[in-house]
Amino acid sequence: MFRERGIEIQTPAQIEVMRQAGLVVGETLELLREAVTPGVTTRQLDQRAEEHIRSRGATPNFLDYHGYPATICTSINDQVVHGIPSDKPLEEGDLISIDCGAIVEGWHGDSAITVAVGEVGPELVELMRVCEESLWRGMAAATLGGRVTDISHAIETYVRSQGDYGIVEDYVGHGIGSAMHLPPSVPNFGRPGKGPKLVEGLALAVEPMITMGTIETEILADDWTVVTADGSWSAHFEHSFTLTPAGTLVLTALDGGAARLGELGVPCVAS
Ligand code: MF3
Ligand code: CO
Repeated sequence: MFRERGIEIQTPAQIEVMRQAGLVVGETLELLREAVTPGVTTRQLDQRAEEHIRSRGATPNFLDYHGYPATICTSINDQVVHGIPSDKPLEEGDLISIDCGAIVEGWHGDSAITVAVGEVGPELVELMRVCEESLWRGMAAATLGGRVTDISHAIETYVRSQGDYGIVEDYVGHGIGSAMHLPPSVPNFGRPGKGPKLVEGLALAVEPMITMGTIETEILADDWTVVTADGSWSAHFEHSFTLTPAGTLVLTALDGGAARLGELGVPCVAS
C-alpha cells in the first residue's frame, strides 16, 4: 500500500527548498483570502490556487493524494477539514477553511487559514482568532532540545484559557518533507515533554482545529469531508515550520513568522 516513512531530518539546503514550497503555499492562500467573497464558488477558488501554484513552477500536492480530487480543501461552517471544492457559491456569513499544499523539487509545504465570507458574528471572529493564536503559541513553544508535545500542550493550554471550545482530536499535525504526511504526529492537546526530540532539520506542520461545540467528528458520504458531529462550526489554521540554532522559521508564512513570533518574544530567522 503506501510506503511507510520515518522521521526525516532535512539539511539546510533542503530546508531552503521547503521554504520555496512554503512561500508558494503562503502566496496562494493570500490570493485566496482576497478572493473569498459571497457568490464565489469553491471550485473557482480551487482553479485560482492550481493556476498560481503551477505559475510558480510548483505542483499541487493534495491533487490525487489517496485519490483526493482537487488542489485545495475548502471546509465550510460545520465542515472541519478535507471539504471538496464544488459549484455551490459561498454565502455571506459563511466561515471557510482553506487548506493548501505545494511541492517544489520534491519538497512539500502545507498551510491552512479560516476566512469569514463577508461579515460573521463576533463569536466566530473570536473562534478564528483563538485558533490562529493557538497555532502561533504552539510553534513558539518549540525549542531545539524540547519535545513535540511541548507544541501540543501550548496549543491546548491557550485554547482552554480562552473559553469552552472543542479541540478536535481525530486529526493532528504531522512531520513534512519529502512527503506531505510524515511522522511524528503533532496532536493539538496533551502533556508537554513527550514524543520525539525537536532537532535542527525537523520540519512540522502544526494544525489546530477547534469547534464551538463537540470534539466528535464524522465523515460525509463523499469519503473526505470531515464535519462536527453536532453541527457546530469550526476553524482550522496550519503552518509548516522548522527550528534552526538562530531561531524559528515558519516556512509557509510570507514573512517567515517574524511578526507573530516577535510578538511572542521568539527569535525568527526569516530567509
Ligand atoms: N493539509 C491537509 C492535512 O494535513 C492535507 C489534506 S489531504 C488531502 O490533513 F488529501 F485532502 F489533500
Ligand atoms: Co497538514
